[in-house]
Amino acid sequence: MTQPFRIAIAGLGTVGTGVIKILEKHAAEIALRAGRPVEIIAVSARDKSKDRGVDLSGLDWVDDCAELAARDDIDAIVEMIGGSEGKAADLVRRSLAAGKHVVTANKALLAHHGYGLALLAEEKNISLAYEAAVAGGIPIIKTLREGFAANEIRSVYGILNGTCNYILTEMRETGRDFSDVLKEAQEKGYAEADPSFDVDGIDAGHKLALLSALAFGTHPDFENLKITGISHLTATDIHFAGELGYRIKLLGIARRHDAGIMRTLEPCLVPKESQLGSVEGVFNAVFIEGDFVGKSLSVGRGAGEGPTASAVVADLIDIARGLRIPAFGRPAKDMAAPTWLDAGKTQSRYYLRLEVLDEPGVIAQVSAILRDYKISIESMIQHGRDPGQPVSVVLTLHEVSSGAMQDACRAIGALDIMREKPCLMRIESL
Ligand SMILES: NC(=O)c1ccc[n+]([C@@H]2O[C@H](COP(=O)([O-])OP(=O)(O)OC[C@H]3O[C@@H](n4cnc5c(N)ncnc54)[C@H](OP(=O)(O)O)[C@@H]3O)[C@@H](O)[C@H]2O)c1
Repeated sequence: MTQPFRIAIAGLGTVGTGVIKILEKHAAEIALRAGRPVEIIAVSARDKSKDRGVDLSGLDWVDDCAELAARDDIDAIVEMIGGSEGKAADLVRRSLAAGKHVVTANKALLAHHGYGLALLAEEKNISLAYEAAVAGGIPIIKTLREGFAANEIRSVYGILNGTCNYILTEMRETGRDFSDVLKEAQEKGYAEADPSFDVDGIDAGHKLALLSALAFGTHPDFENLKITGISHLTATDIHFAGELGYRIKLLGIARRHDAGIMRTLEPCLVPKESQLGSVEGVFNAVFIEGDFVGKSLSVGRGAGEGPTASAVVADLIDIARGLRIPAFGRPAKDMAAPTWLDAGKTQSRYYLRLEVLDEPGVIAQVSAILRDYKISIESMIQHGRDPGQPVSVVLTLHEVSSGAMQDACRAIGALDIMREKPCLMRIESL
């Protein structure tokens, strides 16, 4: 009988227990696909007494997961704890150093330490697999690293956080404000009690750092990624975007330009009828553009027990059957320390919402600043008149460098007539 592939699972929350359920339910089929049975030997979490809805009898319970790394009856560690530092990071490092394959869904860990961990895995000639870390059930790591391996990647971009996409969709469909929809998302379990990782764009930023490393052969370099979340967006912005024919999406974009690679993670306006414009709710969507293959779009569930655990088990099957692919698709030592294109030098169209006092001369002051920065107005909307009261004025602006637009926006924001910080967003034609 073929030797089983022996694993230990550290972390028995949403994803860890999901992995156990799949390995149990599809044991026979997985054994065929992997060429041998995948067998859980040991598990670890904080609280042994917790009912996790899965049968743990017959599995070895380990209180301190760090011990798993040293055991010689285990071939691979499945790290399902989370966090860029602490127990998870320690376990992954120890396991790789001990020559054990690692499967993880931990985007935070890889975005911060992926380069060093990939070097370690390479040195030990073992796998560091993380399909579940980006876009959950969409096999985007495999697609980018293996399916598109013949191409020079021109760009990779998309909707990388289901919680934010759900909130933006609800705001549009119901006309409610951010905080109201966030509260409901928390009650429904779509957003964490501490939602900051999602709504501040950190989670999507981790994923973009990994995608850009795979696409362009760079270190993930999360620290140098400029990130803007969605918590400043209002129902008014969603409404005006709709009136102009757009939807607001939190987009992660990494794009090759002649002068270098540009990365950004920020809410953008995309045409309503574009493919990304129609991806709603908790779904994720990622475009990859290669020089020979052209553009391809993958859409699916980005998180949750089933989709995430499915990706983890797919990694386990690959490793069990002997597939060895470098973590970032090339020797880690050949990954480049990146120099990113200064975003201020990239051109874009813009949406600018101003809350101003409705009084004569206001538009003239704003236009004068735009003229000084050589920015031309494409369209302007102002509804109703209420002299002496605040009113929303929305401008769309022709292509301009990001640097000039930011400077102009700061100058406009400093005018006495302003009642709120201006809201500025890129318009992506995609
Ligand atoms: N949930 C998703 O939809 C999703 C999607 C993509 C990626 N991920 C990633 O998957 C990983 C796991 O996420 P999750 O949602 O399953 O998290 P979770 O439900 O919070 O589960 C975390 C597990 O880790 C255990 N744990 C925490 N600290 C520990 C320690 N010091 N030693 C041992 N065990 C410890 C917890 O033990 P107790 O149960 O005993 O407290 C719990 O079982 C994270 O990296 C996350 O970013 C999750």
